[in-house]
Amino acid sequence: MSVSVLFVCLGNICRSPTAEAVFRGRVQAAGLQDHIRIDSAGTGDWHIGKAPDTRMQRAAARRGYDLAPLRARQVSAADLNAFDYVLAMDHANLRDLRALGQGSARLELFMNFHPQAPVQEVPDPYYGGEDGFEEVLDLVEATSDGLLDALRARLGR
Ligand code: 4NP
Repeated sequence: MSVSVLFVCLGNICRSPTAEAVFRGRVQAAGLQDHIRIDSAGTGDWHIGKAPDTRMQRAAARRGYDLAPLRARQVSAADLNAFDYVLAMDHANLRDLRALGQGSARLELFMNFHPQAPVQEVPDPYYGGEDGFEEVLDLVEATSDGLLDALRARLGR
């Protein structure tokens, strides 16, 4: 049995690629890479084909995550059937995903999987300062732990 997860933000150059890389690291550390498929996408089309934002890459690299190989893509209606979980970084992303139509995926906020859920959204760091990128990493790391626990329960592993 396997399960698939798609992380979605606006540009697919800051938050969702970070979630992809951090969660992939957690999954590999747990030895579950053959059972959990991971991808990320953006609701917008401005950055298609681009590598993650260099500010996000640098902040992630300081914690040992390599975002450099990732390239932005835009989410599509087909994704809502191609993944088991489609996890939105904020409410606007969730609304834009719902506007694509109905699918079989479980569509919800990524932060629902945070063990304490201190906030509902991963704030968009694009127009802010360096602190915003650290906050993205803090929230994504903690939520990835909760998400891994939930998927392990589902997989029975
Ligand atoms: P992301 O951040 O949604 O976390 O990738 C953003 C990236 C780009 C823009 C907004 C947010 N933008 O307006 O271009």
